[in-house]
Amino acid sequence: MTNGRHYLTTPIYYASGDPHIGHAYTTFLADALGRYYRQSGARVFFLTGTDEFGQKIQEEAARRGIEPQALCDRMAARFESAWREMDIRYDRFIRTTETGHQRVVQAFLDRLNRRGYIYDDIYSGWYCVHEERYWTEKDLGPDATCPDCGRPVRRIEEKNYFFRMSRLQDALRAHVDANPEWIVPEIRRNEVLGFLEKPLADLSISRPRSRLRWGVPLPFDPEHVTYVWVDALMNYLTASGAIDPGQPPGGQGFDDVSGSWWPCDLHIVGKDILTPHAVYWPTLLMAAGLPLPRQLLVHGWWLSGGAKMSKSLGNVVDPLDLRTEFGTDAVRWYLLREMPTGADASYTPERFLTRYGELANVLGNLASRVSSMVARYTEGSVPDAPGSGLESAIGATLDSYHEAMGARRVHEALESAMELARRANRYIEKREPWALAKDPARRGDLEEVLASLVRVLLVIAALMVPAMPRKMTELARGLGCASVPSLAEALTGVTAGARVGKIPPLFPRVEIRGEDGA
Ligand code: MSP
Repeated sequence: MTNGRHYLTTPIYYASGDPHIGHAYTTFLADALGRYYRQSGARVFFLTGTDEFGQKIQEEAARRGIEPQALCDRMAARFESAWREMDIRYDRFIRTTETGHQRVVQAFLDRLNRRGYIYDDIYSGWYCVHEERYWTEKDLGPDATCPDCGRPVRRIEEKNYFFRMSRLQDALRAHVDANPEWIVPEIRRNEVLGFLEKPLADLSISRPRSRLRWGVPLPFDPEHVTYVWVDALMNYLTASGAIDPGQPPGGQGFDDVSGSWWPCDLHIVGKDILTPHAVYWPTLLMAAGLPLPRQLLVHGWWLSGGAKMSKSLGNVVDPLDLRTEFGTDAVRWYLLREMPTGADASYTPERFLTRYGELANVLGNLASRVSSMVARYTEGSVPDAPGSGLESAIGATLDSYHEAMGARRVHEALESAMELARRANRYIEKREPWALAKDPARRGDLEEVLASLVRVLLVIAALMVPAMPRKMTELARGLGCASVPSLAEALTGVTAGARVGKIPPLFPRVEIRGEDGA
């Protein structure tokens, strides 16, 4: 976070398929971090959207017998409504077919061309339509298949425009070396450093229109369209508002981005799209003379039986389906808490139920115990007492929570908040409010214990709200607040006299239906 502002992004998702677990995880992670920064008082700009050009989209539209634009309109609406349903608080949903974006792409490429970074040449080799990637003979899998997705590749020979990426190899390596936190976690940084050991090739940035019509025309040769990855990466710049393509070259904003959201503070991406983000994008920006994004957070994959879950592999056991029975927040919690940020994780229904059980037995149970004790012992009103009973536990939790969030270990931050709930349950056992309530001489102690418990629950709500916005709002309302307090407000304590209602189970027991639906 810089100067109290934070610009963060998800990848833009291909408009060729429906939202699934992989998209949702990246987006939940961004949403949780965005909410965390907002709550800390930062101005946040959270960008997401859809990637709408390229062969993949053109072919999917043809398969469905509709125009590519119609497919994109349909899918962009699907993503937007999925995100709304899952409480994603984004500020801007960008679509790469927007005219404004296409004009930024053209202004950017025009600038690269003027600065001597573009040339044309004949490309001959293998191409995978699905991955939108060129492959060399030695990369190919058995029977001329794509080493990434296993589909057959095509032999092509065509004129392409190239970006002189090779020129920037040393500059990029120097940047990665000098900024240890630029790519997190470290394993991904090392992967990029390893990649930069070998000579960096130039990057093909165009496709002939004769083969692909669905793309942004090159400003210097309308017979060619922009390679979809190049156009897609530029969405981050378009949305920042830094570039005004309507101005003549020199006045479009490339030399001064102040007053815009650029540079981005955090790009969140999956490990499969590390190279475009850690190599193509920064070198393109360097060539254009623009500042680089401040950080790249690279997460792992959700696996099913050891393989990446993906529709094309046909092994999607989609945890998003669990939302119907368990609610969105339980799924958000599971995905964010279960996957060590940056590593891979396997989805299993058993692990989901274990995490759900923890929500119910630790947090849900704490909330209902506290609300029923306040109802029974102090007539449903928060006692007028300092409520400092769990002070040191709260202090230690805040330290580890902020430390983990800062280091992008979101799972650890959430765990520290859950640990605070466990501590609070133990505090109840130790202080035995039911015993204090029997002794009028200990009324002061009872009030202090209950005020401490209400306070700690509000702190927990503030710590967990980035992951579970809906449930934590329910909890805060049950404790007499209009909405989840900021951490600072939660810490100053509870409002004496606030009405605490009987909080219904936050995570109710769910009857698990068997295979036969019985
Ligand atoms: N359109 C490109 C991104 C362009 S960004 C300038 C793209 N789109 S995508 O729709 O294929 O998916 C994007 C994100 O979903 C990636 O971050 C990817 O890692 C993530 N996931 C897709 N499947 C996944 C899992 N099974 N697990 C976790 N995330 C994975 O790539």
